[in-house]
Amino acid sequence: MSASREHFSSRLGFILAAAGSAVGIGNLVGFPVSATKNGGGAFLVVYALFVAFICLPVMMAEMAMGRHAQKDPLGSYRLLSNNHNGWRKAGWLAVLTPFMIAVFYMVITVWIFGYLVQTSIGNLDLLAKPEHFGSFINQTSVFIYMALVGLIINLILVGGVKEGIEKASKILMPALFVLLIALVGYVLTLDNAMAGVKYYVVPDFSKLDASVLNGALSQAFFSLSLGMGILMTYASYISKKDDIVGAAKMVAVTDSLVAFIAGLMVLPAIFSFNPETDPTQLSDSSVSMIFVYLPKILLALQADIGYVGASMVAFIFFLLVFFAAITSLVSIIEVPTATLIEEKCISRKKALGILSLTMGVLTVLCTLSFGMVEWLTNFTTYGSGNKSLFDVVYDVFYDTILPLNGLLVCLFVMYRWKKSELSKELSLGSDNYQGSFMERYVNFSLSTFIPVILLAIFINTVATKFF
Ligand code: PHE
Repeated sequence: MSASREHFSSRLGFILAAAGSAVGIGNLVGFPVSATKNGGGAFLVVYALFVAFICLPVMMAEMAMGRHAQKDPLGSYRLLSNNHNGWRKAGWLAVLTPFMIAVFYMVITVWIFGYLVQTSIGNLDLLAKPEHFGSFINQTSVFIYMALVGLIINLILVGGVKEGIEKASKILMPALFVLLIALVGYVLTLDNAMAGVKYYVVPDFSKLDASVLNGALSQAFFSLSLGMGILMTYASYISKKDDIVGAAKMVAVTDSLVAFIAGLMVLPAIFSFNPETDPTQLSDSSVSMIFVYLPKILLALQADIGYVGASMVAFIFFLLVFFAAITSLVSIIEVPTATLIEEKCISRKKALGILSLTMGVLTVLCTLSFGMVEWLTNFTTYGSGNKSLFDVVYDVFYDTILPLNGLLVCLFVMYRWKKSELSKELSLGSDNYQGSFMERYVNFSLSTFIPVILLAIFINTVATKFF
């Protein structure tokens, strides 16, 4: 199969696609709010250190595995371990995880699309009603939005690596950047905007306790799309001549920069319309931020600049988040797609058909678990109480298995595949890698403290979430 394997047409195409995966809802909304709540500038510094010293080596390891094997995650684990039984299971987990996370991400993307459609017809008064979000997610119209989002994703993915993923990223990523800068430019001119900027960047080191550090690392991990097999899959579509070390750095910097800039849009907006805001009271959840809080801000804007202007700002905001979500969804669905194509030797179209069906059913079930169907809403009980099906998918795959997958990548690369092989792979296309400080750091960190930290996060999550 690998002889005919499709490749990105350029290194830039690969970087944009990987950055498109990394930049998502988490960057645009989750990051700014948790930074402000958890120490402002102090959080920003810690986050940047985590990205550089913990996430970057894991990212390089994932990319090296995929590029070396030229296979999907399951195929990569299998090939590089000589079909070892235990490691094959790690490969299965690296495919099942993105499959399930795609389901939960799809549910949220569908809501974003619904809000995008609503803002395009200027429905801000309705969106800002406190009870609107709760009723919106239980309306049958969400299934129409779901079908449309599914169609868009399939249209991109059916085009394959070059014509689908790369082309979409080359259009959506620059568009996203332009929209983001335009909104930041606008928001910074509002009254009182600087109060928000101040909260965002002024460091408060007293806020940094163990749980904030744990949260920051998990956020960085998710934001860079680690532990989901995505970078392994995308890196399997680049040639041996490409520099993965440089590409990984570019992706990490782009993702962090977008997250940082998003803070210059979200926080000044909040403080401008609500100068009394107490940042510690903001909700950590991106979901309530996007769907409950922001429409209220947008409505206040309507009183200020009128109906048309405010609707336009709202539309641009939801378009921005929608673009970010689409490129992330495409990347995560590509993982099981690639696996099905290789494992079952079927066409891309057939693989997408199977996935649309299975993921579609699960997405519908999760969507029904917000109140429409009782047994899905009260699906089970553990930890803090009653959990819906959506909660279970989120808790198990996003919160718990993600760090476990990261841990497995570290252990695999260091103790099964071997350091020397990793170094060799990373030095292809990056001549001065071998013998560099970077090489020594990557080998040392991946074999020692990074797996220990990931194991600690995994154990802590299991203990606090499920017991
Ligand atoms: N990095 C994405 C974000 O920050 C997360 C993600 C990536 C989710 C890929 C799904 C698929 O939102």
